[in-house]
Amino acid sequence: MMTMESLAEIYRTFAKREASGISPTYEAYAYSVAESGTLLELLLQLPSGKQQPNLLFAATRHVIGLPDHGEDFSQHVLRAWEEIMPVVLSRSTQTNEPGRCACFLPAFAQIEGPLSILEVGASAGLCLLPDLYGYDYGQSVLAPARPDGPIFPCKASAQTPLPQAHPQIAWRAGLDLNPLDVGKEEDMSWLKTLVWPEQKARRTRLEAAIEIAKSHPPRVVTGDLIAQTEALASEAPYGTRLVIFHTAVLNYVSPETRKEFAVLVKDLGAEWLANESVRTLPDVAPASILEAHPGAFVLSRNGRAIACTGPHGQFVEWL
Ligand SMILES: C[S@@+](CC[C@H](N)C(=O)[O-])C[C@H]1O[C@@H](n2cnc3c(N)ncnc32)[C@H](O)[C@@H]1O
Repeated sequence: MMTMESLAEIYRTFAKREASGISPTYEAYAYSVAESGTLLELLLQLPSGKQQPNLLFAATRHVIGLPDHGEDFSQHVLRAWEEIMPVVLSRSTQTNEPGRCACFLPAFAQIEGPLSILEVGASAGLCLLPDLYGYDYGQSVLAPARPDGPIFPCKASAQTPLPQAHPQIAWRAGLDLNPLDVGKEEDMSWLKTLVWPEQKARRTRLEAAIEIAKSHPPRVVTGDLIAQTEALASEAPYGTRLVIFHTAVLNYVSPETRKEFAVLVKDLGAEWLANESVRTLPDVAPASILEAHPGAFVLSRNGRAIACTGPHGQFVEWL
């Protein structure tokens, strides 16, 4: 059972291991919560999945903006708790990172199209639009489909098979337990707040992708990746190659469910592209990657690792 001390330790660990060196703001917030018995008591009254730092920090920023003195963070939260708590209870951490498309693109390009792409755990569906963004891979640039489209930087290794053209996508759809709607200001405001304060480049990338998505709204259906994938996949048009893909999602489900999902995709006869943290699919990630890049993602095709990738699409190193 979670105690006040164990919850305080979760916040201290978050400060040391996750925020330190990346977000001084969140580091200070986390230490502030760890020192506030009153706030820890309130958090302990919430369901266990609702006590975590990222959710509390985003909900607070969503409601009262960004308190600029991290050390007073708990006081700010306590004053506005009655407004912050409903946001914590109704929202979840579901960052949508369109930069991850840069890592998928070479893999999509290796599959003969036209493609039907189905993303599970799609959030707002921004990764369903890989052909609408441009990519600067360092050694080459693939221009966006629209001249006003954003260009995402992604450092590609020399071995990466960089495509010369965008994949031909005939059909696309996403699945999520809680889809966010690019047409809803409140949803997009929440999505932007999920980006950590110091991550300005991520925020710019997200805003640019949202603008594109508003004029090409991706379809994201409410559903669970085990229960609803088959039904959604059955809508893919005849004569297209079905690709089921996901990123930063399988860590939300149990290791048993991850295995069940792999079998499900195989039974559907689909191509399966997974871009997950090295720890999420340990059977897929070669031990060498785990050692060299413990914080990286691994891109795999049909259960075989094909690239090591930056968690936000910062780099792609073909294996
Ligand atoms: C961290 S977000 C990643 C979103 C997107 N894939 C990206 O990389 O930008 C994880 C998403 O997975 C969704 N999710 C978690 N468990 C799920 C499940 N069992 N079925 C469908 N979606 C799920 C969450 O609602 C959330 O939107």
